[in-house]
Amino acid sequence: EATPTLYKGLVGVYADVSSVSKVMPETNSLTYRGYAVQDLCEESNFEEVAYLLWHGELPNAAQLAAFQAEERANRALSPALLRVLREIPKGAHPMDAIRTAVSFMGAEDPEAADVSDAAQRRKAMRLLAKLPTAVAATNRLSKGLEPIAPDASLPFCENFFHLVFGKVPQPEVIKSFDVSMILYAEHTFNASTFTARTVTSTGADIHGAIAAGIAALKGPLHGGANEAVMHMLTEIGSPEAAEEWLDGKFDHKALVMGFGHRVYKNGDSRVPTMTKYAEKMAEVVGDRRWMETSRVLAAKMMRVKNIHPNLDFPAGPAYYLMGFDIPMFTPIFVCSRITGWAAHVFEQAADNRLIRPLSHYTGEEQRPVKPMAER
Ligand code: CMC
Repeated sequence: EATPTLYKGLVGVYADVSSVSKVMPETNSLTYRGYAVQDLCEESNFEEVAYLLWHGELPNAAQLAAFQAEERANRALSPALLRVLREIPKGAHPMDAIRTAVSFMGAEDPEAADVSDAAQRRKAMRLLAKLPTAVAATNRLSKGLEPIAPDASLPFCENFFHLVFGKVPQPEVIKSFDVSMILYAEHTFNASTFTARTVTSTGADIHGAIAAGIAALKGPLHGGANEAVMHMLTEIGSPEAAEEWLDGKFDHKALVMGFGHRVYKNGDSRVPTMTKYAEKMAEVVGDRRWMETSRVLAAKMMRVKNIHPNLDFPAGPAYYLMGFDIPMFTPIFVCSRITGWAAHVFEQAADNRLIRPLSHYTGEEQRPVKPMAER
């Protein structure tokens, strides 16, 4: 039997149309609903971008106010969910806790079984509002601290810092965080988004799709890379040690986290913007060690391997400089990507066909089942 043309890793395969975002690898650019991400970072904020991804247009002042009011009204976790989070074993990875939290939110959601577009959108809003509360509570509980209640007087990003640290930092820190949230929000048919669309294609609900997306995002080849980058930088320790450390990796042909991308082969469009804001964080904190170490790594990766950094490379040190614990980095990515995932869930459901590819069988030829005594 001839082997059909295989697309391992679905490389180069167009699986559907989408109007949510566009990656243009030739020009290293990315647009959300037609707007360049770097322009959105300078001219709007994360809440506006969430609205844009879900509605197709940037909000006017009244639309934004209504969107923010709904988000702020839905931030609290149920007492039952807080009890579940308290039961998560101390050493568990927070991504496992967040995945569990989303499953639980699905089970307790008043519209759990309703997969109409209107209900799915209301459920997506509840997820957007509650995820930061769950992420921050998980982090605090893991350190023996009590969760902090959300503050409905604070915008999305300010509230996140309040939930984690009990205080809101200076505006430069909020801006860098907001930029990271915009850049992480959406990225076409990446593994977690495609996973969420696959789940949606079966007619399942949005909490299932998002829980599956979280499971996919955790892996180090995908969202888990932002944590891996910071572990790598702390392991290297200083810019002076970076070149030798990298030589060791090259000797073992090991992956260097935060580098390479399936679609961008000439540079990730989001890196210059995120690097600029990670540099600002280094200035605010007065610690240039991580950005200097990054600079040496990136220069040598280019020189020796011709491989560019991806978004996780500057996002890792940016979050570290903001004071977040490393295991929170991918959960923070979740708080942003819920917007892109949900936009794709709406789009998939609106024009659905079950996602069900083929596999080319390479196992045993057909054979008789032996009775137990003969095996
Ligand atoms: N370090 C060292 N070599 C690399 C790296 C890397 N990070 N990335 C790619 N290469 C090599 C790869 O080994 C291959 O070499 P060869 O041709 O000799 O076999 C060559 O570059 C081409 O790469 P590929 O395997 O065709 O790339 P892919 O499209 O299958 O994989 C990737 C893309 C992102 C999984 C991979 O680059 C990788 O594992 N990077 C490290 C993890 C990472 O940073 N992931 C974050 C991705 S972007 C944002 C996100 O999703 O969070």
